[in-house]
Amino acid sequence: MTAVKFDVVIIGAGAAGLMCAIEAARRGRRVAVLDHAKKPAEKIRISGGGKCNFTHLQATPKNFLSQNPHFCISALKRFTAWDFLDRVVKRGIPYFEKTEGQLFCETSAGDIIDMLLDDLHEASGELYLGVTIERIEKTVSGFDILTLDGLIACEKLVMATGGLSIPKMGATGLAYDIARQFGHEITETRAGLVPFTLGGDKLAAIEGLSGVSLNAKVTCGKTSFSDGFLFTHRGLSGPSILQISSYWKPGQTIEINLRPDIDLLDHLQAKRKDRSKQTIGTVMAEVLPRRLSDRILEWHVVAPETRMAELSNATLQTLADAVNRWTFMPDGTEGYRTAEVTLGGIDTEGLSSQTLESLKCPGLYFIGECIDVTGWLGGYNFQWAWSSGWAAGQVV
Ligand code: FDA
Repeated sequence: MTAVKFDVVIIGAGAAGLMCAIEAARRGRRVAVLDHAKKPAEKIRISGGGKCNFTHLQATPKNFLSQNPHFCISALKRFTAWDFLDRVVKRGIPYFEKTEGQLFCETSAGDIIDMLLDDLHEASGELYLGVTIERIEKTVSGFDILTLDGLIACEKLVMATGGLSIPKMGATGLAYDIARQFGHEITETRAGLVPFTLGGDKLAAIEGLSGVSLNAKVTCGKTSFSDGFLFTHRGLSGPSILQISSYWKPGQTIEINLRPDIDLLDHLQAKRKDRSKQTIGTVMAEVLPRRLSDRILEWHVVAPETRMAELSNATLQTLADAVNRWTFMPDGTEGYRTAEVTLGGIDTEGLSSQTLESLKCPGLYFIGECIDVTGWLGGYNFQWAWSSGWAAGQVV
């Protein structure tokens, strides 16, 4: 079978793959991007609620999880959040800063996709969608990629097929399979940035609270995040929960401070002294959304109409603990079905942090989410995709 030949083939037309393709094509390389999906960059399209949180200006290695926390430094330093922002500004894409450093498209995530596709087109990179990869083999001069539509040969091969999250959108473990084929280790993969699920009595305890939201401090082990917190039909979500989910392992407990700005015991004791006739229902509803404060009283069998003066120190302590130190063990997470990212992945031990090239198989590269580098919520994961894609794009 005669093969169609390219200098560089990139498998996966997501954030990392497109960035790498643009850079390589700008260097004059003949580049093809292959994707099995019918449309490119679908995760960019749905990201950030359709507005794509495309970077975080304060992205540093401490915002990433990996067995080797130093691995991401080189790529992040050489193509920074400011470098990506520069492209967004030059293109005239309207954007806004949500919280400090967290940048979103003003209009639509489609603006980022259009920019990437136009850049690829201008640099004469080629994009092939709906391509089913059957097999990849090493040849003397590079790689043969056997697809359902025929054979493609290339000198350099870049795997950019992302992680396992949202299989409905076409996520596959192809990069892991190819990594294993060429002798790489895969660190344990699991769903990250994902809501917690509760079951049995724990779920019954929060029934009816779905939709209640507030700012909370959530802690797992030594790691804490203070951000939005939300009760759902299945358990708990919101940015603080998504963040901590990446640090949580089954069997670990989570501590939630529902009012991190108030020492509730001090507050309740002061109220008992100064406003002894006020009811606990009223006092609690001043510090928490009513549905939640009523439920906490119900959990601890305290009638909302009880006057502050009638409450013992022990009861005040119990209520304060329920608010400032609510501790529980999640039953699990919603898994890859709704996870924003996959934790773990291709072990960085087998890769060059400068070029993302395999140390086991020269000419083979891995970029983006398929590697064991996972960012926090807040634009960090796209920044890793841009930075790692850019770094490989300079050398493939
Ligand atoms: P990505 O998953 O983007 O691309 C992989 C490509 O490979 C896809 O086009 C896929 O079709 C293709 N592919 C997979 N298997 C294949 C196969 N077998 N054959 C051929 N092609 C194959 N991050 C962030 O920084 N800010 C944000 O706002 C968000 N928001 C967000 C929302 C939601 C709902 C999700 C699920 C995720 C986010 N993320 C995010 C995370 C971010 O989307 C993610 O980290 C990057 O898209 C990863 O980029 P990659 O290019 O590595 O993979």
